[in-house]
This record gives sequence, structure tokens and C-alpha cells, in this order.
Amino acid sequence: MQSQFYTLTDYPNGLPDSALFKLEAQTLPDLAEGEVRIRNRWLSVDPYMRGRMSGVRTYVEPFEIGKPMEGGAIGEIIETNDARFKVGDKVSHMGGWRDIAQLPAQGVTPLPDHDVPEQAYLGVLGMPGMTAWTGLNIIAECKPGDNVLVSAASGAVGSLAVQLAKAKGCHVMGIAGAAHKLAWLESLGVEPVSYRDRTAQELSDAIKLASPNGIDVYYENVGGICLEAALSQLNEGARIAVCGMIDSYNAAEPTPGPSNLSQLVIRKAKMQGFIVADHWSSYPYFLNEVAPQVAAGKLVYKETVKEGLESTPEAFLALFEGGNTGKMLIKL
Ligand SMILES: NC(=O)c1ccc[n+]([C@@H]2O[C@H](COP(=O)([O-])OP(=O)(O)OC[C@H]3O[C@@H](n4cnc5c(N)ncnc54)[C@H](OP(=O)(O)O)[C@@H]3O)[C@@H](O)[C@H]2O)c1
Repeated sequence: MQSQFYTLTDYPNGLPDSALFKLEAQTLPDLAEGEVRIRNRWLSVDPYMRGRMSGVRTYVEPFEIGKPMEGGAIGEIIETNDARFKVGDKVSHMGGWRDIAQLPAQGVTPLPDHDVPEQAYLGVLGMPGMTAWTGLNIIAECKPGDNVLVSAASGAVGSLAVQLAKAKGCHVMGIAGAAHKLAWLESLGVEPVSYRDRTAQELSDAIKLASPNGIDVYYENVGGICLEAALSQLNEGARIAVCGMIDSYNAAEPTPGPSNLSQLVIRKAKMQGFIVADHWSSYPYFLNEVAPQVAAGKLVYKETVKEGLESTPEAFLALFEGGNTGKMLIKL
């Protein structure tokens, strides 16, 4: 059986060119003991993958030039040499960026059984959802009544973070780009704040207008002017969960830091980064709490779906231009 997969032809400097992604094919070897073969139905592209294209180890190994790329995926077992799986089982795994994956079964997880579409386990009930829950609850220690600001608020992580904060009884502000994203946030009861064509000072003024009583929790997905503006509106004892800084992922040169980090001292604030993988033992608690609310439609989510394996690089690159509302997915 043939598998089509993407490789990286070189490490990009700046925003990757789509020509760096090469679609290749190989005939898969017979299944070894303990392996399974999976027909992928959904692929995930995520901003963190840009870090794996840098050639250096961060918290995860870089992609190897010329080797199949990896990423979150949902598929169906079509052949198995492991007693834990049978043909037809729906599973999640990291053999994405390809149509057919052949993997050791220990890296493959059966899909949980909640009343949601299978691809939700790549988004609201998968890694991005778990990231939103972890950052808000464990890192930022968000509590009822907090004034909460979230950047990239209409994305996969941000759109759950704003809703979880709302459900706690917080006053929530969400930063986003396009008008339709701001309108969606407003429909969720979130104060929308546009960052487009604004200086850090203008964004700070807009945040102040949306939250005259300051910010207790900042859920950081972006960095850049969003961080500078948020720092200037912190309340005493504020907590900043640093989830990501997408503004700098494609920077070819070092980016300037915020000019007002001293606000952390003045406001006696805490700023902490985190990686969701370190908190994965809490995934069952997250699922237990969040999945029934998603299934009941109390927590909502959006997806931006591109069709076909060939659209994977384009879908990935669109993340850096605001081309997605909610989770960016590829449907095979
Ligand atoms: N720490 C962890 O373990 C962990 C895990 C998952 C994700 N993350 C991080 O969480 C963040 C969100 O990830 P996601 O998967 O939910 O992606 P996402 O928010 O669904 O997609 C990225 C969004 O970021 C916004 N954006 C892109 N470039 C921007 C810029 N220069 N300035 C402002 N906004 C920009 C765009 O929305 P607009 O149209 O609003 O600009 C875009 O739609 C990323 O920083 C990611 O690296 C961290």
C-alpha cells in the first residue's frame, strides 16, 4: 500500500515558502509486530509546528529534512498487528501530514466516546482545548470575578479560553483581527478588542475601554504589541499565562521585547510559560469537565476546514495570517 506524506526540503528563515513542503510517496512495508496501519481522515496543523521547522530542539525535536513530517491526526485502523486494536477503530495519533500512517500501537489512542464529531478531538477536546483549560485554570489560577484578557481569542485555544473564563463568571475581553472574528467573540459575551492597525498604546487604550477596572488574568497567545498593551493594564497580583507568542514565530531577526516589563514589578504580577504536554496527566479531568458541555452545546467551537492532503501546507501557513476561525483542520 502507498502512503503520501510531506517532507520539509529545508529549514525556513522567516515565513516558510510553500515550496519548502514536498509531497512524496512510498510503498509501506508489511506491518511489524505491534504496529497498526491507519487511514487518516482529519489532520491538524498547529502554530507550534513552526518551532519544529527551525532545526534546533526546543521542547520537542525539530522535523528532520527529507523525513516524513508529523502532527496530530484522527483516522481509522485499516490493518493491525496489535491485539489492542481492531480494524475500524477510530484513533488519534501523531502520524499526521500524510494520508496513511503506519505506527507502533503504543503511540495510538482510541477516541474517547463522547457525543461529538471525531475531529473535535483535534480541537476543542484535544490538545488545543486542553491547553486553554490548563493555561486558564492551572497556570493563571483564574477565579470568578477576574477580568480576563485573551489574545488570538477566536482561535482554537483562545476561543475555549474565553468561554471557560465566561463560565467561571469572569469579565472577558478577547483580542482578534478580522471583523467576523470580533463579531463571533461578541456573540459569546466577550468584549471584542481589535489589534489590527493599532500601536501598543492604541491597543492599551482599547483594552482600558473594554475593561476600565484593569486586567487580573492575561492569557497570552501572541506577544508583540498584545503583550505590551496587556502589561500596561495589569491589576495588582495579576497572572499572565504565557501559552504562545505567534507574533514572533516567523521573525527572521530577534524581535524587540515589551518596553514596560517593569509593570510586572509595579503590579506584583506573575508571568509563567507552560507546555501542555507536561500537564497531560490531567487530560481525563479536562475531558470529564469539558466534553459534556461541548456535547450539550454549552461550550461552542468553530472549525476552518481545508479539503485534501494537498491543502496541508496552505492550511498551516494561513495560521500566521489569521486565515482560521477556531481550529484549522484538513479533511482527507
Ligand atoms: N504552550 C502550549 O503547550 C501550547 C499548545 C497549543 C498552542 N499553543 C500556542 O497557542 C497559541 C494559539 O494556538 P492555536 O492552535 O489556538 O492557533 P489559532 O489561534 O487557532 O491560530 C492562530 C491565530 O493567531 C492569530 N495571529 C497570527 N499571527 C498573529 C500576529 N502576528 N498578531 C496577532 N495575532 C496573530 C490569528 O488570528 P487573528 O485573525 O485574530 O490575527 C490566527 O488565526 C499559539 O501561540 C500557539 O503556539 C501553545
